[in-house]
Amino acid sequence: MIEPALPPACYTDDKWFELEQHRIFGRLWLFAGLTQQLATENSFVARELGGVPVLVQNLGGELRAFRNSCAHRGMPLQVAPCGTRRLICPYHGWAYNDDGSLRGVPNAKIYNMCDATKESIRLQSYALTTVGNFVFVNLSPNPLPIAEQFSEDLLRILREVSPYFAPDVSYTHFACNYDWKLNFENVLDWNHAQFVHSQTLAPLLQIESSGTFSAVESNQSKLFLEGSPLADIVFSGDAPLAGKVALKDVSRIGRSSMPYSARWFSSLFEEPCDRGAFFACNIFPNVNFGSIHGESFYLQQYVPTAAGRIDYHSWVFTTKLKARVPPQPHLLWGIHHAEKRVIDEDAVLLTALQKSLQAADSIGLMGDHEATLHAMGRWYMQELSEEGAA
Ligand code: FES
Repeated sequence: MIEPALPPACYTDDKWFELEQHRIFGRLWLFAGLTQQLATENSFVARELGGVPVLVQNLGGELRAFRNSCAHRGMPLQVAPCGTRRLICPYHGWAYNDDGSLRGVPNAKIYNMCDATKESIRLQSYALTTVGNFVFVNLSPNPLPIAEQFSEDLLRILREVSPYFAPDVSYTHFACNYDWKLNFENVLDWNHAQFVHSQTLAPLLQIESSGTFSAVESNQSKLFLEGSPLADIVFSGDAPLAGKVALKDVSRIGRSSMPYSARWFSSLFEEPCDRGAFFACNIFPNVNFGSIHGESFYLQQYVPTAAGRIDYHSWVFTTKLKARVPPQPHLLWGIHHAEKRVIDEDAVLLTALQKSLQAADSIGLMGDHEATLHAMGRWYMQELSEEGAA
């Protein structure tokens, strides 16, 4: 067994929260939305990432990321979490060009603004990149290459699975009273599924007598079988129990057996990409993405808002519907409802765990099978411990 790498204070103290905001969320690529939500001119998503209001908007067919803050008085340019609306401030009507420069000011004379000032005004922009349908934003003025943060295998999975995504997305978000790291550790901790999700997720999986998930033996995958684009993917194995941890190795990819039987909605889909399997991408720092049979996809993000607090974001979508099948909002709602039930099963326990950490001097012990959680903790301390201990 191993000693946990993180002391309880990392989950509860404001000092660690501030360090994380700066050293992790202010430096790494952060998931911001899906291109399905941004497909049309002026469609947008407005997020709070690393404590910063971020707007991602389709402007002239190009996705751009700005601080969601008007250059006049700081009003959010887009107030709704997502939608379609021109880049005009709702407060006094200042309008912006696609590059964030000021386009027009209603009642311009009352401001006494000279031309030079007008020409100098520009929204603060952020680096943005897409990997398949996944939109990532980086808040740093000198963003690291995304290939330093994620392995090529992880990036390939995101790229290759994206063409299967249907355009309609169910999205919601809600507050939870626990630390983001507890949720990331929870998705790395496969051994909890048979206990916490015994009536929901676990019955869909094949669990060995040792407690591990069964490997996929044969299935109808369009992604992972021989001759398919991801046939050579190397799934994450056990992490080393000690030593320096590379950032790329904190994110994980896994796939396990999930026996398939068609459900009432299966005939509505084009051929799904990974029937008979369950795959999951644990994308550091705060995203969990996966697929059930390649028929439905879930995407979860745990955005820290304060020490021991997150805003939990949840997206659910299906694989593409057959050409003549109309949109199925009731199906999306039903799948999302089932997904929320699994999320709630975790949330009840993680909230209790957060409370117990509040007054704890230390956190128990970890088994060797929890080496991936331990590796995340070691990377965290590599990055933050010097300042955290100060
Ligand atoms: Fe945006 Fe005034 S705050 S126009």
